[in-house]
Amino acid sequence: DSDELRTLLLSRIHDVPDYPRPGVVFKDITPLLADPAAFGALTDALAALCRAYRADKVVGLEARGFILAAPVAVSAGVGFVPVRKAGKLPGATLRQAYDLEYGTAEIELHADALRPGDRVLVIDDVLATGGTAEASLHLIRRAGAEVAGVAVLLELGFLDGRQRLQASLDGAPLEAL
Ligand code: PRP
Repeated sequence: DSDELRTLLLSRIHDVPDYPRPGVVFKDITPLLADPAAFGALTDALAALCRAYRADKVVGLEARGFILAAPVAVSAGVGFVPVRKAGKLPGATLRQAYDLEYGTAEIELHADALRPGDRVLVIDDVLATGGTAEASLHLIRRAGAEVAGVAVLLELGFLDGRQRLQASLDGAPLEAL
């Protein structure tokens, strides 16, 4: 059940204190990825959400979002679409800037990767401030597609990312496994 899944997933995410900076506790998901039972259970749960939301595309957010989203796309039988940091995609792109703690960042989506009417599930490993996910939702809507939902492995509740995302979710579900 979902309590068992949660316990399994949490046991495979390791806290790394003072990384990448003093005072920050990094959530390391590499032990989860290295455990086929845990990675498989996560993939199954995300693929079930993909079907429940009737999504026909999965968008993964660079870089750890790619790792989680790709097997979900294959399992659910839908296409995988990358949202990348600016300058990495070869074709014509839509670009979206968003605020970081210090400064700004930009992410991109291939302009022809989504079609009007597509229903998109966004997948990432961690929801922190919500800035990355929010920018990806803007890109999906600018491409004319519909946001079916957002799914993350881990939500850092104390950073209020869910609240930041509320407006751009526009009623779409946000699920943290
Ligand atoms: C991390 C994480 C999310 C994002 C969450 O990615 O994987 O994508 O930050 O933060 P936010 O909610 O405050 O926007 P990072 O930029 O470290 O990239 P990486 O996956 O390429 O290491």
